[in-house]
Amino acid sequence: MAEQVATNITWHDGTVTRDERKAVLKQKGCTVWFTGLSGSGKSTIAVALEQVLFQRGHVAYRLDGDNVRMGLNKNLGFSAEDRAENIRRIGEVCKLFADSCVITLSSFISPYREDRDQARSLHADGDIDFIECYVECPLEVAEERDPKGLYKKARAGEIKGFTGIDDPYEEPESAELVINTAECSLEESVQAVLDCLEARGLLKAD
Ligand code: ADX
Repeated sequence: MAEQVATNITWHDGTVTRDERKAVLKQKGCTVWFTGLSGSGKSTIAVALEQVLFQRGHVAYRLDGDNVRMGLNKNLGFSAEDRAENIRRIGEVCKLFADSCVITLSSFISPYREDRDQARSLHADGDIDFIECYVECPLEVAEERDPKGLYKKARAGEIKGFTGIDDPYEEPESAELVINTAECSLEESVQAVLDCLEARGLLKAD
């Protein structure tokens, strides 16, 4: 957990309430936290879901591991400490987006349970819905897909500490949603998330 370093700082409240934001955007805002191996389909589902949500008139935004690592988190690598900091920052960013009533879709391997749980409790502190979605996919299938050729490099010893090969992935134990992408089509996966959002009343303002 990061320590509070700055002193002499004071929280400054705004005057626009969350209810007012909800009424304008006609949705509640939440974070859908996709977690799973590289190549499991997290980003593919998030991209398709974002598109469907927009077509239905919702405001959604994706935060993607590879993309965020080119900007905000460009100073982080893949040690356990850096992955923890990656997830800490992104948990905070998701919380901000979701607080603004945007349906926030984050796709990060987020291999450590403790880091994901911290992102979850940050949201709970702010009374913001957090849906952990485990994008389950057997390693053999992810490795077979190998969309970026990284498993091949990891097997050849050209990448050290690659998740699933020589670095751990801790499966979620109580995710709100589990999607097995070796068994589900992309359409079915997207529908599963939509059903989950709908069932939780997150696609409407009241
Ligand atoms: S996380 O573990 O810190 O959550 P994140 O989702 O941001 O990872 O980034 C993972 C992406 O970085 C992978 O999809 C892959 O493209 C790339 N990558 C590069 N090196 C590694 C590595 N050692 N382990 C996992 N992914 C890596």
